[in-house]
Amino acid sequence: MLVVEDSPLYSPEFFADDDPWAYLAALRENDPVSVHRRDDGYEFYALTRYADVYAAYVDHQRLSSAYGTMIDGSYLPQKDSASGRMLIVSDQPEHSAIRKPIKTSGFSRDMLGRVGRTVRRNIRGALDGLSVGDRLDFSKVIAPELPKGVLEVLFGIGAEDANHLLEATRTMIGYRDEAYAGARPLDALVDAQLDVLEFIDDLIVKRTVDGSAEDMIGFLAQCVAEGTMPRDVAVLNGLNVAVGGNETTPHTASLTVHTIDQERDEWRKVTSGEVGPDVATQEFLRWTSTNSYVQRLTVEDFEVGGHIIPANSFVALWNMSANRDSQVFDDPDTFRIDRPENKQIAFGAGVHRCVGAPVATLEIQTFIEELADWDKAFAVIDPPRRLHSNFMLGLTELEVEVVDAKELGT
Ligand code: HEM
Repeated sequence: MLVVEDSPLYSPEFFADDDPWAYLAALRENDPVSVHRRDDGYEFYALTRYADVYAAYVDHQRLSSAYGTMIDGSYLPQKDSASGRMLIVSDQPEHSAIRKPIKTSGFSRDMLGRVGRTVRRNIRGALDGLSVGDRLDFSKVIAPELPKGVLEVLFGIGAEDANHLLEATRTMIGYRDEAYAGARPLDALVDAQLDVLEFIDDLIVKRTVDGSAEDMIGFLAQCVAEGTMPRDVAVLNGLNVAVGGNETTPHTASLTVHTIDQERDEWRKVTSGEVGPDVATQEFLRWTSTNSYVQRLTVEDFEVGGHIIPANSFVALWNMSANRDSQVFDDPDTFRIDRPENKQIAFGAGVHRCVGAPVATLEIQTFIEELADWDKAFAVIDPPRRLHSNFMLGLTELEVEVVDAKELGT
């Protein structure tokens, strides 16, 4: 099995300035299961084929989430301090017990309807405020409107609080990137984490007092009041939903605008009505693969792709690579806005499959619908700046000019 010493897959700079897609494509072709070492002793097995990534996602017996889902922690497998209390780092049976109240209160059909209306209002308001000739950084001015709408509804907060929460979660996830955290990343990470936890804790206390369960945080607060959910579990999962919601879809939206700029002929199929926004959304999700990988720890030997990964090994499931696997997608490196039966795996699979997937899909689809209906368009005027992260694929700068849509023929 290929062993890569000092692997580029650890490097945020490699993801920002180089071509991780090509690197992963070569692994997928020649060494679909490989080991990646860092000089401090940390190592993980990389799964790059769709079938292997999927098999790992659904094997909840052999693969654990409790040791952290990011390649980052200690090189000794230690349980995450929130394991058993926060969705993303919990195994069964705790995971199911936590996920149920979150899903029913935050991601019901009724909540989806409310989220959809708020996100559309926010996007429309932001686009309506723009005139031909305006120049702006899309990633900072428009993209945050998507998760802002979600926070407003799920957390029952106003736009100002939503903006505050957005800024703090951005530092938490992007702390390695100077664009978000400045020169002292670890201090920024700790401060931001405390800020988010305190904010959500205050909210839960307030909502416990006012007794309303009309949104997700209100519902969790009532569970705390009734004694069916410990307060720390409610707070940690508020944090999980806030981070999951804030640090993904804005990047997907920025990458969508960049892709449209590069793929005008494909985009025209949406504006002309030839391809539905729902079909297009699936291809944007595949193409952008915002959450590049997730990590697991094997708690038993795990056989995958003809290899045995021994117990106690970290394994990274590369979503971005699985989404370009020619065994599953015809012509995988071509952006096909009308791709039929798109089996993109951007949201993962199995019991941890993104609980926010319906919300994220709705946000992106709503954004696409509003862009397609807009009489203007965004033209990218400078090369974008990519986020320095191996975990989230996104843009921290996307300079665009607002142009007349007819001029571009879209
Ligand atoms: C394009 C946008 C998004 C992508 C690509 C994405 C990706 C993912 C992936 C791959 C997982 C699985 C993690 C694992 O198996 O360890 C996940 C889990 C999760 N996501 Fe998302 N996500 C997105 C949007 C959202 C949104 C909008 C929310 C909330 C509003 C959200 C909240 C969560 C939560 C709470 C989990 C943990 C679920 C669990 O462990 O049961 N995500 N997401």
